[in-house]
Amino acid sequence: MSALQGTDPRSPHDHRHRACASATSEPFDHGAVSRFNAWFFDAFDRYINYIARRHKQAAFGELDSDVVVELGAGVGANLDHLRPGTQLIAIEPSLAMHDRLRERAAEVGVELVLLAQGAEELPLEDAAYDEVICSLVLCTVRDVEAVLAEVRRILRPGGRFRFVEHVAAPRWSPRRLLQRVIRRPWAWLFEGCTLDRDTASAVRAAGFASVEITGQRFRRSFFVPVNTTIWGIATR
Ligand SMILES: C[S@@+](CC[C@H](N)C(=O)[O-])C[C@H]1O[C@@H](n2cnc3c(N)ncnc32)[C@H](O)[C@@H]1O
Repeated sequence: MSALQGTDPRSPHDHRHRACASATSEPFDHGAVSRFNAWFFDAFDRYINYIARRHKQAAFGELDSDVVVELGAGVGANLDHLRPGTQLIAIEPSLAMHDRLRERAAEVGVELVLLAQGAEELPLEDAAYDEVICSLVLCTVRDVEAVLAEVRRILRPGGRFRFVEHVAAPRWSPRRLLQRVIRRPWAWLFEGCTLDRDTASAVRAAGFASVEITGQRFRRSFFVPVNTTIWGIATR
């Protein structure tokens, strides 16, 4: 049995996990900008899942665990990849996302344990989980190395970290130039999203036993600045 160390006080105490210490990576609410992000990811959920379907199928298609940890779960973009009855430990620091995430988890019968904090310091036990997932989150976290170290720490040996991410376009490409030009307003609007992060190198350097990464564009995407994308599975 694994254990949660500190839960959102609003989350029900869970039979599969028990509370221990408090979370240190703070939740946030940036007012209108946070509300915009919650609206945006809810409104575009079907479209984003459509353009990312090959990536998500490849990364999350074989998820087979009763308990899944998700970093930056947003408003529940990946709930359809979980079986009803799965316990989702959702790490989500944006308070504006919470109501919709709760609502959608209930709709699909996923048991939600919602932790209102960032993934840089997870209040979860060492080597206790088989599956950690995320989509479009490693671009946004404050400290990607710290997050990846936490993912590796909480996974059991053989456990998998499955991810779908947008990353820096190739150096000197027109998209990379665009990423550099708009990176500041983009980061402001999307609450820290870094357009030109080299996430693949960060995952490869994070000390996993094996890392598979595939670079593939989203099909029919209107989101040009973020259409250098990868999916991957890192095994502890
Ligand atoms: C671009 S959104 C993606 C949301 C969702 N995963 C999806 O695919 O629609 C980025 C998410 O990461 C969350 N986030 C921001 N900083 C984070 C951190 N330090 N740790 C975990 N999640 C974080 C944001 O609140 C937001 O929900």
